[in-house]
Amino acid sequence: MKEIKLFAPATVANVSCGFDVLGFCLEPIGDEMIIRKTDHPGVRITKIVGQDLPLVTKENVAGVAAEALLASLDTPYGFEIEIYKNIKAGSGIGSSAASSAGAVFGINELLGRPYTRKELIQFAMKGEELASGAIHADNVSPALLGGFTLVRCNKEVDVIALPTPSELYATIIHPQIELRTADSRSVLKKNIPLSKAIEQWGNLAALVSGLYTNDYALISRSLVDVIIEPERSPLIPFFNDLKDVALKAGALGSGISGSGPSIYALSRGEETAEKVREQMEKVFQPMNIKFNTYVSKINTEGIKIIE
Ligand code: HSE
Repeated sequence: MKEIKLFAPATVANVSCGFDVLGFCLEPIGDEMIIRKTDHPGVRITKIVGQDLPLVTKENVAGVAAEALLASLDTPYGFEIEIYKNIKAGSGIGSSAASSAGAVFGINELLGRPYTRKELIQFAMKGEELASGAIHADNVSPALLGGFTLVRCNKEVDVIALPTPSELYATIIHPQIELRTADSRSVLKKNIPLSKAIEQWGNLAALVSGLYTNDYALISRSLVDVIIEPERSPLIPFFNDLKDVALKAGALGSGISGSGPSIYALSRGEETAEKVREQMEKVFQPMNIKFNTYVSKINTEGIKIIE
């Protein structure tokens, strides 16, 4: 096989109480990429459609992730990458993660799968590091593995694929403003009070338990972020209104998607997720803010080959 076309999905990181460690994968939104094996060593980004992003390999998240993967292997081949971006950079739904994960997934396939999807996380993370200046795998993990994922450790990359309750649906509203991850990380305090940490890890552990036991009421009680959301939400227009209407419309929980500005809600059933979308749209419609919304089943497959 010389060429592969793939779909690299958008993802929601943090999921309220799981800053930098929890994430899940979306279904309807994602980038397409074509990866081509060549006889010339090295990685070349030959085309980017839909976004103004660097073609220089070392400045592009897909390029950096691909180079990290190739540096670990003894191969005479090189690779060309075409990226068709549907996920906007700085949207909070894992734009850089989709490109990074897509690049390493595609190359791995063309080389006969020397690595498992889980093992590819360590290379995809290098792209995330370039994009945000920090090491975190909470977007690339669900992009590669699908479903919900938990990053126990970033250093020797220990990621756990969690179960996905079948009735869970996500609603996403993406105001068309760019919020760079590096900027929304810079507002975060470096120290947190012990009492807040206790609340947060109680919620995170309970959320994981709720996912294993399909306990929607427990999932709902646990989707609370007492540490990051209070600091970041002022960066997002009408955040509190959007969250309020989502919860009133029946969402189990709602919060900032990744580093924002997108906001996510999780609901039990598609009908409720659609109601949440309708109510969220009503908040933005009278304002002069352009936005997109999506309702998505949790994508349990992750990145996939389309040709
Ligand atoms: N966990 C990261 C953050 C995700 O919130 O900064 C970035 O999308």
